[in-house]
Amino acid sequence: MIKVAPSILSADFVNLERDIRALGPAGADYVHVDVMDGLFVPNLTIGLPVVKAISRISPLPLDVHLMIDRPLRYAERFCEAGADVLTLHVEADTPEHTREALETIRACGKKAGLSLKPGTPAEAALPYLELCDLILVMTVEPGFGGQKFMADMMPKLKTLRRWLDEKNPVCELEVDGGVNAETARICRENGANVLVAGSAWFKAPDPAAFAAAVKA
Ligand code: DX5
Ligand code: ZN
Repeated sequence: MIKVAPSILSADFVNLERDIRALGPAGADYVHVDVMDGLFVPNLTIGLPVVKAISRISPLPLDVHLMIDRPLRYAERFCEAGADVLTLHVEADTPEHTREALETIRACGKKAGLSLKPGTPAEAALPYLELCDLILVMTVEPGFGGQKFMADMMPKLKTLRRWLDEKNPVCELEVDGGVNAETARICRENGANVLVAGSAWFKAPDPAAFAAAVKA
């Protein structure tokens, strides 16, 4: 099943509840929440209190994307704050801590995700595939919405699809960055089943039509 996860980084923060409540009826499957620390990426966005507040009002599961240094420090707290899927970056800590963070998320009863920046090869995820419920392939440099889709990430996506089919077929495969109706099709063809869309979703004149096109 193809799913769409609108990134609220492009929502109207003054009207966040309104924007989040509109997602489900338009066909969204997750609310994608981008957490940035100004260190792992050169931008600061939202943190624990906002995730907690959103979880109180969101009818959809929260897909929380941690772009923070040493995410193990916060894994349990983001689970408690209401993340349903909690994704951390493989580049953000040592292999031991990455493994421990994924295990911590699952021990909290939540889904564990692992993300790869564009410069990180598919092989970096290989030791963790069985510990993951979601793999996220970044198709822009993480940090900002509205960037251009990197089509050259498609071989990496395809490789991960093949490995997941062999080792963990229930694991979701997500792409994030520059997704619109056309690039979504390319991602689906290369094995993605969860499409994050920020600017394209919130700029769409008809989000329901956009969701349908992304899933088509
Ligand atoms: C970027 C974030 C994305 C971003 C996507 O670092 O992880 O989720 O909001 O925005 P678009 O869809 O505009 O590229
Ligand atoms: Zn994201």
